[in-house]
Formats: sequence, structure tokens, C-alpha cells
Amino acid sequence: MRKKIVAGNWKMNKSFPDAVSLAAEIAKELSHKVIPANFEAVIIPPFPYLRPIAEVTFGSTHLLCGAQNCSSERSGAFTGEVSAEMISSCGAEYVIIGHSERRTLFGETDEIVSRKIGAALDSGLIAIVCIGESSKERKAGQHLSFVKNQLKQVMDSVAEEMLGHLVIAYEPVWAIGTGETASPEQAGEVHAMIRQELVDRYEEAGSYVSLLYGGSCNPSNAAALFGVKDIDGGLIGGASLKAQDFLAIFDALPHH
Ligand code: PGA
Repeated sequence: MRKKIVAGNWKMNKSFPDAVSLAAEIAKELSHKVIPANFEAVIIPPFPYLRPIAEVTFGSTHLLCGAQNCSSERSGAFTGEVSAEMISSCGAEYVIIGHSERRTLFGETDEIVSRKIGAALDSGLIAIVCIGESSKERKAGQHLSFVKNQLKQVMDSVAEEMLGHLVIAYEPVWAIGTGETASPEQAGEVHAMIRQELVDRYEEAGSYVSLLYGGSCNPSNAAALFGVKDIDGGLIGGASLKAQDFLAIFDALPHH
């Protein structure tokens, strides 16, 4: 069965005490819920909080922790970098790779993304790899071909036996942090294409990869998006900073 995932990307927000309180509130609320075996909530704090937040998740079956980025390098003289191995050794299980903010603000190319995917998978992490078009491609009607090309670079970086460690997040850049969400139809069109490409490349194994939607997903629109075939959950930015909003989005995952 495919995993259903709601992942909260906290980005560069919150003081350490506030971050720990947020994690603790989410953990406590989840502990009172009946949650299907294939559902996961993932919280993704800034690096310095990783180990203490991971510790908050250790008692919970359905709450996991991740990092927002990792180095493409394995170890050594790379001042300021954090390796996938370090993330894994802190007890985190996920890492976001190729978020559009990394790509546009920090110059991450498809080649760097590809090397980061390799580093993450070699360390046993699950990579949430982000792809998605900007408004320029969307307006030109080139969103499908643009995303297909990004997806090809991702698939070229992942051997079939590692597919269980890959999650794809479709995040249209024009929808991130803007309050403008892709409609279920718009997201569904791209998710269907991504699924088809995965199945064309990996056959049945491609049908087990979880595909998340990201971009201004909130408690009011999550259920409609998660009701679409091939949308297996969400990567949530702004709305993941409030426990009740994040939990409401998690509750919007369809239970069938
Ligand atoms: P948003 O961010 O939910 O604030 O739009 C999503 C993301 O960047 O992953």
C-alpha cells in the first residue's frame, strides 16, 4: 500500500523553545488519534533543532522527523554543510531535496539535486524531492513538459531498488507561500503525468511512490486536493507552523 504523508516544512521559522512546543503539541494530539498504518506525519525543523525534535517523535509510530536540505558531499572540509549521514545519525528519517527556494535562491541545479539524492539514499534517508514549474512555464502552457524533464533527472538518480526511499513533491512555484493554490484539477493533471512516467520507467514499483502536493495547502483546501487520485498527501509550509492547522491537514487525508 502507498504511504499517505503530510509533511510540515518549517523553513527558517521559530525559536528553539517554540519549535519544541510545536513538536510536542503535534505529538500529543496524534497520540490520541486512531491512525491507519500507512499514514505518516513528518515535521521538518531547521537544522539546529533536528536532534531534540527527533527525540520528541521517537515515542510515536506515525510522527517522524526530517531535514530541509543536505549536502551533496559525504564528509570533510565543507564548512557550514550538513551531511545526509549526520541527519540520519540524529534520528531523522526524511530529507527535503531540491525545494524551489533552494533551486532559485541558492543556485541548486538539477545536477546538484541529483547528487544530493544520491547522498540521501546512501545514508538510508527518504528523499522528498521537489519539482514544479514557475508561473512563466504555466502561462506558456509548458508546465507538463517542464515538470516531466525535472522528473526525468530525478528518476535518472534513483535505482529501482531504492524507489522505496523516494517521495516526489509536486510544488508549483507560483503556489508556494502565495496563498494561490493549484486547483485539484491543475494538481491532478500533473500528478497523473508523474505517476504515468514512474510506471513507464519502473513498472509496478512506480505505483508505490508517494506523490505529495505542495503550495499554499491549508485546512480549507486540503481535503479537495487529497481526494484527487495520485495525490498521496502534502508538503506544507506556512500552515505547518500552527499545530492545529497541521493536524487538520493531516486529518484531511482520506481514510479509505
Ligand atoms: P506553503 O509552502 O505551504 O507556505 O506554500 C510549501 C512549501 O514550500 O513546501
